[in-house]
Amino acid sequence: MNAAIYPGSFDPMTLGHLDIIKRAARMFDDLTVSVLDNKAKNALFSVEERVSILKEATKDLDNVTVDSFNGLLIDYARQKGVHISVRGLRAITDFEYELQTAQTNRMLSKGALDTVFLTTSLEYAYLSSSSVKEIAAFEGDISQCVPGFVAELVYEKMREKKL
Ligand code: PNS
Repeated sequence: MNAAIYPGSFDPMTLGHLDIIKRAARMFDDLTVSVLDNKAKNALFSVEERVSILKEATKDLDNVTVDSFNGLLIDYARQKGVHISVRGLRAITDFEYELQTAQTNRMLSKGALDTVFLTTSLEYAYLSSSSVKEIAAFEGDISQCVPGFVAELVYEKMREKKL
């Protein structure tokens, strides 16, 4: 079985993430999209909410499952018996961090976890979850950044935060 994990914060999932998910789902028999449960990060959405958004967005992709994890990615991957992590690369600015993380994961896992990079489609190259949150905080238009149902949830969260 050719399986991979696509780990990330997904706070929230963007169209860029979804593009990577769809393309990775064509490359692997089984793809697990997994949300890092990082208590240290001040996330807009809870892990459960992020998982639920990803499930809704991927409901038509039969070989995609959504999960969450905490701790080290290599430990989670070992538990699942998976040897490939998928990450999207938008620009050279992503490269340094991603290269370091991929090499650290190879070192920590003694070569058991490799990273496959997919270059982000050009139309999503500018997108990030942080910019989506910043635009939404100022009531800007995020309709080209996230699926419609996600945009509504982001605006709702922003309104709750302002109350
Ligand atoms: O969407 P993000 O925030 O860029 O995703 C980063 C993520 C979750 C892939 C990365 O932080 C991660 O794998 N964290 C788990 C902790 C870990 O394994 N760290 C060791 C590598 S430096």
